[in-house]
Amino acid sequence: MRFSQALLAAVAVLPTLVWGQLSGKVGPSTSAATKTSKKTCNVLNYGAKADKTTDLGPPLASAHAACKSGGTVVIPSGDYAMNTWVSLTGGSAWALQLDGVIYRTGTAGGNMIFIGSTSDFELFSSTGKGAVQGNGYVLHAQGSRTGARILRLNKVNNFSVHDVILVDAPAFHFTMDTCTNGEVYNMAIRGGDWGGLDGLDVWSNNIWIHDVMVTNRDECVTVKSPSKNILIENIYCNWSGGCALGSLGADTAISLVHYKNVYTQNSNQMMMIKSNGGSGYVEDVVFENFIGHANAYSLDINQYWSSMKTLAGGGVKLSNITFKNWKGTEANGSQRGPIKVMCADGAPCTDININDFAMWTETGNKQWYSCRSAYGSGFCLKSGTEGSYPASTSTVSAAPSGYSAPTMKEDLKTAFGTTVSIPIPTIPSSYYPGATPYSKLAGS
Ligand SMILES: *[C@@H]1O[C@H](CO)[C@@H](O)[C@H](O)[C@H]1NC(C)=O
Ligand SMILES: *[C@@H]1O[C@H](CO)[C@@H](O)[C@H](O)[C@H]1NC(C)=O
Ligand SMILES: *[C@@H]1O[C@H](CO)[C@@H](O)[C@H](O)[C@H]1NC(C)=O
Ligand SMILES: *[C@@H]1O[C@H](CO)[C@@H](O)[C@H](O)[C@H]1NC(C)=O
Repeated sequence: MRFSQALLAAVAVLPTLVWGQLSGKVGPSTSAATKTSKKTCNVLNYGAKADKTTDLGPPLASAHAACKSGGTVVIPSGDYAMNTWVSLTGGSAWALQLDGVIYRTGTAGGNMIFIGSTSDFELFSSTGKGAVQGNGYVLHAQGSRTGARILRLNKVNNFSVHDVILVDAPAFHFTMDTCTNGEVYNMAIRGGDWGGLDGLDVWSNNIWIHDVMVTNRDECVTVKSPSKNILIENIYCNWSGGCALGSLGADTAISLVHYKNVYTQNSNQMMMIKSNGGSGYVEDVVFENFIGHANAYSLDINQYWSSMKTLAGGGVKLSNITFKNWKGTEANGSQRGPIKVMCADGAPCTDININDFAMWTETGNKQWYSCRSAYGSGFCLKSGTEGSYPASTSTVSAAPSGYSAPTMKEDLKTAFGTTVSIPIPTIPSSYYPGATPYSKLAGS
């Protein structure tokens, strides 16, 4: 079990939990080594063959059945085909050690690997090379956006997922919902350059996600409702859609989310909060240390988001949201300015704070800041708490001081597209300029 270093440091000086972070321990209750010493279920002993042809689905399900009450299911290094999906539910004190590479061959929808109603669980690669190759391009090239997600965790408690690589999902890559006390780290997710191929989506309680790289054209690491106590740090959106909260609908309940050290390049946005009507709240959220380059939007709150249909309700109420230390450049500041805070007229935003924010445009010589029905401090935000007001936009034609920010030297320069095979990447050694990952990469 582990605590974040920030949490530990804070706990040392403060009696109760500090802001926007975890509510307690995350990760599996027992180590993989302990599980392995209790029992090991190697899929090769349950009919699997590393021949890239034999369906891994049934052997994996059998190995799980044998080890799900305490033990480690091992997929050794080698290439496996997966033609049918597995639903691995009801276990406790088990681990899934993925050292091989699983190639999708089946075409069904659903989830290739579904882990449900499980406690004390760990999915990891001991070598840092375990991967699932979703071969989504085979479907995408035909114009199809249907097909499987690679990985879903549902109702899993006390768990971790780490040191694995997910590539080219037919649909989403990794969804984690209705889970508690989880840690996700040291991951590379690389998908096609298309909407609907989300990287990591989470709606859960007490989750620490750190040191993750995503390449795609939709969600990078996104929080959905309901969620509480989510800490997300060292995130590299290396050509992506970008991170978001949303989309948000009826009875939204999101609080105590903290994003920190998020590097985003060539994405739709650095951070978006998206909704259109709806109800409920998002509160007590911090977005800290963001670097952006060549993105369309940067800070983008849009409660009139036209890509979703307008829902009943006056709007999701956003309050006590802080943006601090945002640096870098956006693609075209006169087309899409770096600050867009469009709050619902029926539920104006309050206590929105933008501090230490300096971004400038990569093309042209001006950029805008725009706010609507939004209260708080910084830029176009109005002081006060009540009443709607129409969008008020100010345009500036001088670069703010201190906007420049480093780039990651290996930023992806060209998309992988959706029609040719996407190569399996290695897990990066850094996810944010100057930040060292919390945990050493497995096998290094
Ligand atoms: C999960 O971990 C917490 C904190 O360590 C513990 O109190 C709880 O009993 C565990 N839950 C399960 C289902 O193992
Ligand atoms: C605002 O949110 C932070 C956590 O992000 C929290 O620590 C603080 O107490 C909240 N402030 C108010 C007035 O609720
Ligand atoms: C930037 O946006 C403005 C306004 O939409 C547009 O006129 C201009 O051509 C854009 N510049 C580039 C380089 O695309
Ligand atoms: C960013 O993505 C590209 C393409 O996947 C890759 O070559 C590069 O290594 C990535 N950057 C890092 C730091 O991993």
